[in-house]
Amino acid sequence: MHTGLSVHPGASVPLVLAGGGGHAKVVLDAARASGWRIAGFLDDAPEAALASLGVERLGSITDWSRCETACRFIPAIGDNAARRACIEPILRHGGDRLALVVHPTAVISRLHVLLEPGVFISAGAIVNPCARIGAGAIINSGAIVEHDVEIGAWSHVGPGAALGGAVVVGEAALLGLGSRVLPGRRIGAGAVVGAGAVVARDVAPGARVRGVPAAASP
Ligand SMILES: CC(C)(COP(=O)(O)OP(=O)(O)OC[C@H]1O[C@@H](n2cnc3c(N)ncnc32)[C@H](O)[C@@H]1OP(=O)(O)O)[C@@H](O)C(=O)NCCC(=O)NCCS
Repeated sequence: MHTGLSVHPGASVPLVLAGGGGHAKVVLDAARASGWRIAGFLDDAPEAALASLGVERLGSITDWSRCETACRFIPAIGDNAARRACIEPILRHGGDRLALVVHPTAVISRLHVLLEPGVFISAGAIVNPCARIGAGAIINSGAIVEHDVEIGAWSHVGPGAALGGAVVVGEAALLGLGSRVLPGRRIGAGAVVGAGAVVARDVAPGARVRGVPAAASP
């Protein structure tokens, strides 16, 4: 079950990327591939990377309210805290201003998957039945989200990371590149799981872990 927001809107809905750095390049690529019309991007830095790709900068992040009402916004900042800070003001005006962007090569189960507003799912990711993905979360390229996983708002599942069945991830957690979380484990809010880690025990909120098996990172 999707939220009812349109994943493949056709060329009529203008999409604004909120952020114009490295991660925004990946979002841009997926948005174009899935049929969005790109209106431009918002970033406080005029020299942001998307400008060099020929995408129009429409202003600073706080200029979102000056964009035409037909526009939808997709969070396009990789850092969880920065993404949350930029997007929560838009979300407070209603989730319908936020888009969902799902790369056409991602595989999203049609069996009770919930994607909240502002979710970005990158190329080759897999989201299996009954997964729930909170607002503004990123499921990056090639990540695997198994059945019944819950991912909190503003979290980032890094490229190639894999979450076993019924894993629970709190808000604004980062699961690094290629990390693995064994079924049923819980990752606390704001936790950071290092690239390549294998999480065999629950991770406390705000903790940083790395290695195999994952242990506290100094
Ligand atoms: C684990 C992590 C959070 C540690 O960050 P940090 O504290 O800034 O780490 P540093 O780069 O200062 O490295 C500290 C030590 O940890 C080691 N280290 C860093 N990351 C590691 C990892 N993922 N696994 C094992 N060791 C790691 C470094 O080699 C270094 O070892 P040394 O002290 O023997 O030289 C970070 O390296 C990481 O893996 N982040 C995930 C990033 C990611 O995948 N983002 C998604 C991108 S799209």
